[in-house]
Amino acid sequence: MPRKVNVALIGYQFMGKAHSNAYRQMAHFFDSDTIPVMKVICGRQEAPLKAAAERYGWQEWSTSWSEVVNRKDIDVVDVSTPGDSHMPISIAAAKAGKAVLCEKPLANTLAEAKKMLAAAQKAGVIHMICHNYRKAPAVSLAQELISKGTLGKIHHFRGTYLQDWPVDPELPLYWRFDKKKSGSGALGDLASHVVDLARFLVGEINEVSALLATFVKERPLVEDPKKKGKVTVDDASLALVRFANGAIGSIEATRFAPGRKNFNRFEINGSKGSLSFNLERLNELELFLRDDPQYVQGFRNIMVTDPSHPYWKWWPAGHIIGYEHTFVHVVYDLMQAISKNTIPSPSFEDGVKNQSVLDAIEKSSNSRKWVKL
Ligand SMILES: NC(=O)c1ccc[n+]([C@@H]2O[C@H](COP(=O)([O-])OP(=O)(O)OC[C@H]3O[C@@H](n4cnc5c(N)ncnc54)[C@H](O)[C@@H]3O)[C@@H](O)[C@H]2O)c1
Repeated sequence: MPRKVNVALIGYQFMGKAHSNAYRQMAHFFDSDTIPVMKVICGRQEAPLKAAAERYGWQEWSTSWSEVVNRKDIDVVDVSTPGDSHMPISIAAAKAGKAVLCEKPLANTLAEAKKMLAAAQKAGVIHMICHNYRKAPAVSLAQELISKGTLGKIHHFRGTYLQDWPVDPELPLYWRFDKKKSGSGALGDLASHVVDLARFLVGEINEVSALLATFVKERPLVEDPKKKGKVTVDDASLALVRFANGAIGSIEATRFAPGRKNFNRFEINGSKGSLSFNLERLNELELFLRDDPQYVQGFRNIMVTDPSHPYWKWWPAGHIIGYEHTFVHVVYDLMQAISKNTIPSPSFEDGVKNQSVLDAIEKSSNSRKWVKL
């Protein structure tokens, strides 16, 4: 019989919904010695929280995360709240001996992220950050190919993450526009994912030259739309990066690309070939190999839906999956780590390294100089 671990999920909106679905789905498709039990979901407002608990299938709900993280029957704490609460919740959970899964970016500042890693290491608990895009089968296959040397020596990483939801200047000043709550804008929200993909696929980044821009500087207040408040985060982030292995790259993230809803794409060029991925075609990986005979050379489109592919426990080949499945893979990896008492990937250590790049991008934008990590 698989061991059951009780999960407490903090946050019940966007990521709360995605993570709830992942806990519910995992054991249906993946064999695991450890399986999650959806024990308790937390938030601040009773009525919508109760409704979320019922809809998503949580046994209990609570408006006090601090009580919940200290409960004896809780094994895993999942932090799916805005950045300003990642550190207090994660550190309290680690001190209480719980495994912690925290949403990205790990914290609002590099200093906070380091404290979270130190607390998790001191407590000896399992820690993981939710960079779910590296769990798309096509992205994991890209990583396998690169690590086997299929692309040869990597020269370029070109990553873009484009959205358009706040182009309207009348959109209210939600928490995502407030540096105190979110830490940064497109940088922490979107570029952090691209940084994770760059580190996962190519390696560590050791120097950046970057700029941040805020196009809409004031927005109507949520509580009183007649009044305006200051936007204190970036709308766009653009960085040139150098990798420790000699590759170079660009990382662009913006919320101001009309028509682009969740356009997360990268291309990697090596001495033996190239590959590219686009989240809008999540099941596919484009691969070009210079070794192919000249007369059939061209990008091939691999459907990454075969039992021989990473995470493929879903359906017969060709029966495609989507965005939500990447979170199921995160939960599966977390459960595997709990079974084996190992640290899953990506961990808080990855979160700190990622945050170091975000921090360097901000410093470079402020100083208008290259910044070494
Ligand atoms: N992995 C991804 O692809 C992805 C996508 C979107 C958001 N995120 C990250 O997930 C986190 C949450 O973002 P979201 O889009 O779900 O936000 P959201 O606004 O949709 O939901 C935030 C939730 O946190 C709760 N909350 C806020 N402050 C709280 C507090 N102090 N105590 C308890 N609950 C609190 C809110 O009630 C709400 O349920 C952020 O760190 C964000 O960067 C990750």
